[in-house]
Amino acid sequence: MASWLACLLLLGAVHARHEQYEGHHLYRVWGATPIIGSLEDKLDFLSATPAAISTSKQLEVLIKLSPKEKEQWLPYFLENGLDFKLVSDNLANILRAEESQLVQASEEADNNSTITWDAYYNSETIFKYIDEIGEKYPDIVTVVNAGLSYEGRQIKYVKISTNRFENLRKPVIVIDAGVHAREWVTSPVALYLIDQLVTGADKELLDEIDWVIIPLANPDGYEYSINEDRLWRKTRSKSHEGSDECPGVDGNRNFDFYWGTRPAASNPCSIIYEGPSAFSEPEIRVIRDAVLENLPRTALYISLHSFGNMFLYAWGHNASLPSNGLVLHLAGVRMATAIDRLKLEEDTPYTVGNAAQVLYFTSGTSRDWTRSVGIPLTYTMELPGYEYGFLVPPTYIKQIITESWAGLAEGARYVINNYYH
Ligand SMILES: *[C@@H]1O[C@H](CO)[C@@H](O)[C@H](O)[C@H]1NC(C)=O
Ligand SMILES: *[C@@H]1O[C@H](CO)[C@@H](O)[C@H](O)[C@H]1NC(C)=O
Ligand SMILES: *[C@@H]1O[C@H](CO)[C@@H](O)[C@H](O)[C@H]1NC(C)=O
Repeated sequence: MASWLACLLLLGAVHARHEQYEGHHLYRVWGATPIIGSLEDKLDFLSATPAAISTSKQLEVLIKLSPKEKEQWLPYFLENGLDFKLVSDNLANILRAEESQLVQASEEADNNSTITWDAYYNSETIFKYIDEIGEKYPDIVTVVNAGLSYEGRQIKYVKISTNRFENLRKPVIVIDAGVHAREWVTSPVALYLIDQLVTGADKELLDEIDWVIIPLANPDGYEYSINEDRLWRKTRSKSHEGSDECPGVDGNRNFDFYWGTRPAASNPCSIIYEGPSAFSEPEIRVIRDAVLENLPRTALYISLHSFGNMFLYAWGHNASLPSNGLVLHLAGVRMATAIDRLKLEEDTPYTVGNAAQVLYFTSGTSRDWTRSVGIPLTYTMELPGYEYGFLVPPTYIKQIITESWAGLAEGARYVINNYYH
């Protein structure tokens, strides 16, 4: 806590890191899905969601435009029949406002436990908390030191089981978070899931399922998002050509499923750069190996992302459904309904659907790869961003972890009823 606070204050004082976004505008842009989709590699989509008020197929995206990009793109939007609305004329101000809130939240948080549910923490504190959980619940929790990130941080995750993964009749559920660096609120959701399981909030889910939970898959990117560029999304690797200018890989394009099939993802400077080869990123290999370890009995995989209130299922590289598309939809709707019951009144309900149909085509995603290697239920789960996008204020963490736990618990019950051997 103290180190987190010190870190924020220090950085605020010594270098104003949000300056790079001084004068950048934030726009909401909506229109025909194919046109919006074609911009994915050219502009930084802060979010993409089906447009709320449409009968035909429309997408709405939140994008940032530098003054130069604005000159180039606004005419393009007009010419192509896209609607747009200015959300903010200075992104740097939004980031500064977020930062002062974060400082306040960490001052107000109580100091009795390492982490609380009303602040964000740096990677060191998150990994320390994971170790503490392991020490406190040695009978059910195994902390895995899974390997080093590109910059050398030990990636830790937990396995939770009442019989050390030795009862082969039990289904396994794998959850990851923090693949995209700037999506901070995903880690608290994973950590809260761990907390609920080990403290016995739902005995059945602890007893009948073996859990693999990876709360912070991309610590390098996360630290970079805290310290240097709040909007950083990728890893921080520099093993590809062009990495001096454009380091990092989009972890959720780095999986070996139709990897390398979309030219849009092959440019190192693109926000969706897929990497020099499938599984080039050590952080993504950690997820791959955790998934493969118990593959035959793994029934559900969820990758936590932010934001947009969606459960997206395969496929993403084409718009057809896997053979169990109906079941994927049904289980997704169950989870979504459980969340919607607890959501904030003003928030939109979850959308459940095929990734390519709801949004646009993607290749190399964890959701598609995990489905392709045989896990029946695999989803990308986009948490709420309200009007803040991924700058979700810490005051909303409790809401998001509580409603998401309800959704994940419902998914787990579905798994027990349908996949217990
Ligand atoms: C928690 O500790 C920090 C210093 O470590 C202190 O500034 C803060 O006031 C404390 N918060 C409470 C609620 O005691
Ligand atoms: C922190 O711990 C102290 C001493 O154990 C206790 O009196 C206090 O109520 C706790 N504070 C919170 C916010 O839990
Ligand atoms: C979409 O991809 C899946 C998985 O590779 C494949 O089985 C299916 O035939 C493809 N559908 C179309 C319409 O190409």
